[in-house]
Amino acid sequence: MAPWLIAFLACLLAYFWKCKTSKPKSFPPGPARYPILGSAMSLQNPKTKKPELFYGIRKLQQEYGSIFGFYLGNQSAVAITKFEDIKEILSKSETAHRPPVIGLAAKPGKFTAQEVDPELNKDNPPGIILSNGRYWSEQRRFMLKTLREFGFGKSSMEAGIQEDVKMLIDHLALRAGKPTEIGESLNIAIINSLWSILVGEKLKLNDPKLEMVVKATNDLITSEGPTGLIANLLPHKSMIYWPFFKQVSGYSLIESIMKKLEAFMLPYIENHQNSDSYIDEMLREIAKTTDKTSSFYGERGQFALINNVIDLFMAGVETTSSSLLWSFLYLLHYPECQAKIQEELDRVCGSNRLPNLDDKPSLHYTNAFLQESLRLTCFVPLSVFHFTSEDVTVHGYVIPEKTMVIPSLYHVMHDPDHFPEPGLFKPDRFLDENGHFMANERVIPFGVGRRICLGKSLAEKELFLFFTGILQRFSVLNVPGVTPPPFGIDFPMPGIVRNVPRFQLVLQ
Ligand code: HEM
Repeated sequence: MAPWLIAFLACLLAYFWKCKTSKPKSFPPGPARYPILGSAMSLQNPKTKKPELFYGIRKLQQEYGSIFGFYLGNQSAVAITKFEDIKEILSKSETAHRPPVIGLAAKPGKFTAQEVDPELNKDNPPGIILSNGRYWSEQRRFMLKTLREFGFGKSSMEAGIQEDVKMLIDHLALRAGKPTEIGESLNIAIINSLWSILVGEKLKLNDPKLEMVVKATNDLITSEGPTGLIANLLPHKSMIYWPFFKQVSGYSLIESIMKKLEAFMLPYIENHQNSDSYIDEMLREIAKTTDKTSSFYGERGQFALINNVIDLFMAGVETTSSSLLWSFLYLLHYPECQAKIQEELDRVCGSNRLPNLDDKPSLHYTNAFLQESLRLTCFVPLSVFHFTSEDVTVHGYVIPEKTMVIPSLYHVMHDPDHFPEPGLFKPDRFLDENGHFMANERVIPFGVGRRICLGKSLAEKELFLFFTGILQRFSVLNVPGVTPPPFGIDFPMPGIVRNVPRFQLVLQ
């Protein structure tokens, strides 16, 4: 080979190496960046020998402090772990975005968010959770307004949820006295509750449609899919559509689930009844929208509707039912807490009616138990990732434009300065000297800021009503001779949520 060609290739290689290993000026401290892999080596969990984000972020926080930067493949990312910083950074409009989603084509009507906001939604799908800009703000505003009108976040929704609680109690009573797993029943009851708000129809708990939706959303939320590490390490986004990567990244699974959910939704949209439900309200909005650039316009609006409902299933079912299930696991570990809750329920609510939201302020210990359960579980420990549309400065560091922002809710809720012995389950930390419940603003399982969980108030009501309703009726006991699984934070986490280990219990 001619010497000049060797020199040229060496220069090219050196240039490529420099581009792919350098970091922007004032980027937060963090591990080295390498071509293609980014900082994957530093996220490696020695137990599983795989890069794992939740594990890696806990390790890097110890090495680099409360704000640190690293690379997922070619994508820059900054993790923030202190409450004050998370609150400040997530209150800015520059961070109220989601990162590009690799494998965007898995969602129905894939490019319809992009039509509204070509720059901010270049690689983002329609729906609420992953879209940005005008598309997202129009859809989020409308969804919040409509759901509030139907009682979302108001006590008027209580009666509907209580009906679901009663149905669930009757369903569980058939299995009383025997070892049983209750996860799927909780899931179905929660999805039914959401379904009736969205469509105005209450289904029987054994309706196969509910089972299908539960299974689909469960698979969606637990798979890493196109947002997982494998997808992020691909040198080019379009490689996710290559058959091999489609399979190993989980893209194929996501695509088939989306198709199933779309097929499930379509008949409800086509045969809507003009009643009072989210779907009907949204269809009316689509029908009256004449602005061609709006996210509600024509077919684009219909895809927004389908994707919003899919997103609510994804965001609202597994999160709530698993949070409940974690609470039952803690009950098995701490029977003395259960005795206190049941004494309180007997004293405040008696046994002739279900506990209701008016009882909540008087149920101090129960509130403390539920708060501790949400804190310790930390179900979405790294929240849902955000993305910057402009440079953001924090403590002299610059989080550059187009960087993934990862708010570690785990570090806030497990901060030993505010929650001594954070790995222990201690509801008393939320009680004052008179035994009165004290909420703590640092318990942020629903995130904070502009993209805070849209279903927070519904979830809080559901958790309270289902938990108290079940405990008023049943005692939750260990299967004789069986130790319940441990609840430590190191339980493997394949997706973005902390799924509860499988366990059986006895309802007495
Ligand atoms: C215990 C139950 C729940 C937990 C722990 C939870 C947690 C979260 C978290 C951490 C986020 C991300 C916030 C951020 O990006 O900063 C989120 C977003 C979201 N949640 Fe929840 N959630 C729960 C229940 C629900 C329910 C019941 C619904 C609706 C039915 C819901 C709908 C949503 C939606 C639509 C978003 C995306 C908001 C946006 O991007 O603008 N969630 N949730």
